[in-house]
Amino acid sequence: MKRDFLHITDFTTDEIHEVFNLASRLKTELRNGNPTQYLKGKSLAMIFQKPSARTRVSFETGMYQLGGHALYLSPADIGMGKREATKDIARVMSRYNDLIMARVFDHQHVLDLGEYATVPVINGLTDYNHPCQVMADIFTVLEHRGNLDDLKVVYVGDGNNVAHSWLNLAQRLPMELVIVSPEGYEVEEEILETTKDAGLSNVSISHEPMDAVVDADVIYTDVWASMGQEEEAAKRKKVFQPFQVNAELMAAAGSQAYFMHCLPAHRGEEVTDEVIDGEQSIVFDEAENRLHVQKAIMVMLTITTAQDSNFLSLQGPSDNSADAMR
Ligand code: CP
Ligand code: NVA
Repeated sequence: MKRDFLHITDFTTDEIHEVFNLASRLKTELRNGNPTQYLKGKSLAMIFQKPSARTRVSFETGMYQLGGHALYLSPADIGMGKREATKDIARVMSRYNDLIMARVFDHQHVLDLGEYATVPVINGLTDYNHPCQVMADIFTVLEHRGNLDDLKVVYVGDGNNVAHSWLNLAQRLPMELVIVSPEGYEVEEEILETTKDAGLSNVSISHEPMDAVVDADVIYTDVWASMGQEEEAAKRKKVFQPFQVNAELMAAAGSQAYFMHCLPAHRGEEVTDEVIDGEQSIVFDEAENRLHVQKAIMVMLTITTAQDSNFLSLQGPSDNSADAMR
């Protein structure tokens, strides 16, 4: 049975820890100049309906480092659901490639790709979620903090795709997660309730950034208008202004708080220069880790036989502490 990675909840908690271990090993191997070519001769089709820098480059470079090959398919190449039915794209791409990664508007399109492709499908962002991003984010927190114990994450901003993936993560790893948004821009009710019902994390919604950030380990933000919402940008700029992550908000959080952002950032809007360039910011480690974490995800989805899985688990540290990762 092929596996997809469309939501963080597609992985069990143990599998998320396996991603951390494998990503850490791949990162070390790369730094030592001897990356294992787990995906030698394999091919990844990358379908993009929206712009991308990090996702495209990290998947393409990652596939190359693993001994494989990646193809970039632009919106003009794949008219998802317009030029061709999504299920036909899924079937055709599966005949040429060993993996598919897709960045699309409509979440249903990645669900359809997953259903009809005979090879693993990875979600590279939809209007609904961004699972690879938040897997790289939490791996970065683990590296910097050394553990994920008693973690408090405060997401400040739009209740968007990235916020939804944080909620999915909170269904697999325990944390205190506060999502601080302007009224009317909160996360979707259904995923919020599912996350609360999972009972693993303490999840809450706030409209008061200064109160919410106190004692946070991570202050996270994202753009106020996501790709596809450009025409709302001017209105959102006014509504979201009190939710800017600036020096005052970071001071309210405390010096222990890391600043994170999935990037690209709109400097001077959701975050000020002094915060994103400041000592508490770990945004570029976070961006780098897209590479290592996605490589781990691709390997895990591709290597499915018991023998190969065994091989993987024999290779590296079995715990996920930061010490084991160094
Ligand atoms: N964070 C992220 O996904 O960046 P891109 O849109 O540049 O891929
Ligand atoms: N929420 C942003 C994330 C970009 C990586 C967007 O969808 O545009």
